[in-house]
Amino acid sequence: MSFTVAIDGPAAAGKGTISKAVAAHFGFAHLDTGLLYRAVGAKVLAGGDPVSVARALDPSDLENDALRTPAVAQAASEVAAIGDVRAALVDFQRSFARKGDGAVLDGRDIGTVICPDAEVKIFVTASAECRAERRFAELSGKGMEVTLEQVIADVKARDHRDQNRAEAPLVPAQDAVMLDTSDLDIAQAVARAVEIIAAKRR
Ligand code: DC
Repeated sequence: MSFTVAIDGPAAAGKGTISKAVAAHFGFAHLDTGLLYRAVGAKVLAGGDPVSVARALDPSDLENDALRTPAVAQAASEVAAIGDVRAALVDFQRSFARKGDGAVLDGRDIGTVICPDAEVKIFVTASAECRAERRFAELSGKGMEVTLEQVIADVKARDHRDQNRAEAPLVPAQDAVMLDTSDLDIAQAVARAVEIIAAKRR
């Protein structure tokens, strides 16, 4: 039987790191659903039509380091507000969730819209300043020229758009376990997520 773990939360709260680590821990497949929207966003920046691009998306489009830039992140957040773009990406995510013994999907609406029946739902948060500092360290570590002020403004703009859109806005599912990582290091945050999942596996 398949076992689905839904991990949602705002930008740079630690979802990606936690999701990868718990998937490795339990031997589950992992899908970073933000990459789907980033891949659409990148193609739109290159001149594509959002809905056509989303309908034609191929898994190979996700393997692209250029999807991690702040410009693509903003474009992703913009195309993610379009209902027909979201609809085009639903089936791929749902079938991934039920593949194999278990799957971890991270995003914004996994526990609320994509997999409302997920066996485990975790909503990862952290203060906006804390998230911006982490994202700043990550981007400057990759050699990108950004300022902390720019990153704070980007994170807040994305939060606002993701939380206030009409389609599948970013909100915790009612049955999600909240995990605030503001005062946790990576190992502590992963350990807590493993504990939450292990408790549901029993
Ligand atoms: O997780 P991320 O930062 O890579 O996501 C990029 C954007 O994609 C995010 O600002 C909103 C959108 N997104 C979404 O609307 N739904 C998801 N399940 C995942 C991402």
